[in-house]
Amino acid sequence: MKRHLIAASILSADFARLGEEVDQVLAAGADWIHFDVMDNHYVPNLTVGPMVCAALRPRTEALIDVHLMVRPVDRLVPEFARAGANLISFHPEASDHVDRTLGLIRESGCLAGLVFNPATPLDWLDHVMDRLNLILLMSVNPGFGGQAFIPAMFDKIAEARRRIDRYSARTGRAIRLQVDGGIKPDNIRAIATAGADTFVVGSGIFSARRAQDPNGYDDVIARLGIELARSDG
Ligand code: DX5
Ligand code: ZN
Repeated sequence: MKRHLIAASILSADFARLGEEVDQVLAAGADWIHFDVMDNHYVPNLTVGPMVCAALRPRTEALIDVHLMVRPVDRLVPEFARAGANLISFHPEASDHVDRTLGLIRESGCLAGLVFNPATPLDWLDHVMDRLNLILLMSVNPGFGGQAFIPAMFDKIAEARRRIDRYSARTGRAIRLQVDGGIKPDNIRAIATAGADTFVVGSGIFSARRAQDPNGYDDVIARLGIELARSDG
């Protein structure tokens, strides 16, 4: 597995051409497809469900990273697994039984992630690290693309990195640290330096279509990659 991964959030894609958008961001070098599911209850916005995930699945073997912003959570887990999701993450406040939901995701054959809103304490991690493949820290309040990165999240990223490193040293198990919201070429390096390894980028990619090629994302994804390489040394 690569150290740094870019998960393109299709929330900011052109939904009238969603399949082509997915093809193009992956061809440009995005590693994962980040699939934001909003229900107008847990967050004040409404997006797409398992049918759209199933429609995209045959286009790629890239990992589909489903970010559930829904309440309740559990009923949708097996549906997204059947629709071809590889990784499913959810917000602990949205589940009545967090450990049970994590178990359900694993039983469905998917990798499991837990998502932390900007004000949600990392204490939710205390008893579930063994169940997790990914920790997702929101660096905006969930619901919309195009918001600004909240600077107070740098310390939280560093704290999550310390928790993961302690856990991995003890168990030998890896857990990815993903950050979502307001990531652009001009701040991705600082976010990586704070300790993130997986970067959700929505408007930062999709609003940056190359002037000379309205369908290309090569330049912006290359810029993100160059900034990440700089964070290594
Ligand atoms: C927000 C979503 C994000 C969103 C990020 O609730 O979870 O994945 O698409 O968009 P940008 O990168 O524009 O902040
Ligand atoms: Zn998201």
